[in-house]
Amino acid sequence: MTKKSALITGITGQDGSYLAELLLKNNYTVHGIVRRSSLFNRSRLAAIYRESEANDLHLHYGDLVDSSSLNRILEKIEPTEIYNRAAQSHVGISFDVPEYTADVDGLGTLRLLDALKNTQIKAKLYQASTSELYGKAGKVPQDELTPFYPRSPYAAAKLFAYWLVVNYREAYGIFASNGILFNHESPRRGENFVTRKITLSIVSILKGELSHLELGTLDVKRDWGYAPEYVDAMWRILQYHRPDDFVIATNETHTVREFVEEAFRFIGKEIVWTGVGVDERGVDRATDRVLVTINPKFYRPTEVDILQGDSSKAKALLNWQPKTRFKELVHLMVEAELRAAGLVNLESNERIALL
Ligand code: NAP
Ligand code: GDD
Repeated sequence: MTKKSALITGITGQDGSYLAELLLKNNYTVHGIVRRSSLFNRSRLAAIYRESEANDLHLHYGDLVDSSSLNRILEKIEPTEIYNRAAQSHVGISFDVPEYTADVDGLGTLRLLDALKNTQIKAKLYQASTSELYGKAGKVPQDELTPFYPRSPYAAAKLFAYWLVVNYREAYGIFASNGILFNHESPRRGENFVTRKITLSIVSILKGELSHLELGTLDVKRDWGYAPEYVDAMWRILQYHRPDDFVIATNETHTVREFVEEAFRFIGKEIVWTGVGVDERGVDRATDRVLVTINPKFYRPTEVDILQGDSSKAKALLNWQPKTRFKELVHLMVEAELRAAGLVNLESNERIALL
């Protein structure tokens, strides 16, 4: 049997790195597109690269804003599966760079689909669609039939990409599927997404490098899952016998405030809240020290108030369901941060309290 080969765009990102690991474990040859940057941007891949004994991980320079690179790479490697995970993925920053976000996240997907159509390579394509599509959805929980209402340039660009995937499937018979993934986190999460920002800041506070954590809106709700389980869902979506669109979520929702409380609780701190709006403070009950403040610069011009997914279709058709629940996710992220910072005694496994 010929070995399957996969092309991952966005391989240097959180999801791309977990997906590369999964596919290598499943005996794929894995190709990834990396873009040029002034500093090497492959830190998430370093360990995987070292462990890829069969040398089955190959990186190619390319960019979603450069059609010629996409055509060249597709023709060269003729993958059997393509996972389009590359994006300017930060919702808040998309308000600052809307045109660029539309170019990469929207037109970039079109360029990839068109390259697939023109090269006539028989590959299945997975598109990284998002729960941000629901935006100001009137319905909770959200499933595959819930109408979309994007609330940011990021979400609008992803909406364009979502419908192109459906269109190329219907117009040209391309096996192209959307995974509508709700937020998924891990110790590899980008440092300016709220969960990782909280866990990183806690460690910086413990080390005395930061006085307190600054956040924007605390009462928005997100359906947070664990990224390694979500890349398994992506793979299952492409193994399904026909192209289709699937919601992937934990079906639970929690506020940013709850994430903060649980993360501090893990290091033995109870947060009590005082004040309202921009004057709100999160205070350590034991010492009265202010550990959380609000900075309006992290507010977004339009916000997505609540995301909660219903992934019953994925459970029924893909036999996929989430395992890691909210508290466990918070704990594993804080624990990983403490370990990375040397704040866990590796012999006794005890946490070193510095605060
Ligand atoms: P991420 O960590 O920000 O990774 C994004 C990846 O895209 C990085 O490898 C980045 O490369 C690459 N990239 C950015 N612009 C590019 C361009 N012009 N050409 C080629 N590559 C480019 O994001 P993630 O959390 O892994 O998410 C992966 C995908 O899933 C994204 O499309 C995101 O929008 C979508 N998504 C994520 C979630 C979530 O909760 N994580 C939920 C739903 C959907 P550099 O390393 O060089 O920056
Ligand atoms: N980043 C950030 N920083 N967000 C904050 C902060 C802060 O200081 N304070 C409050 N928030 C709020 C945001 O306003 C948002 O409502 C929520 O925390 C989550 O923000 P992010 O972690 O940046 O993620 P996101 O939900 O906007 O987007 C992520 O999930 C989407 C799927 O729903 C990204 O991964 C997107 O790429 C993905 O599509």
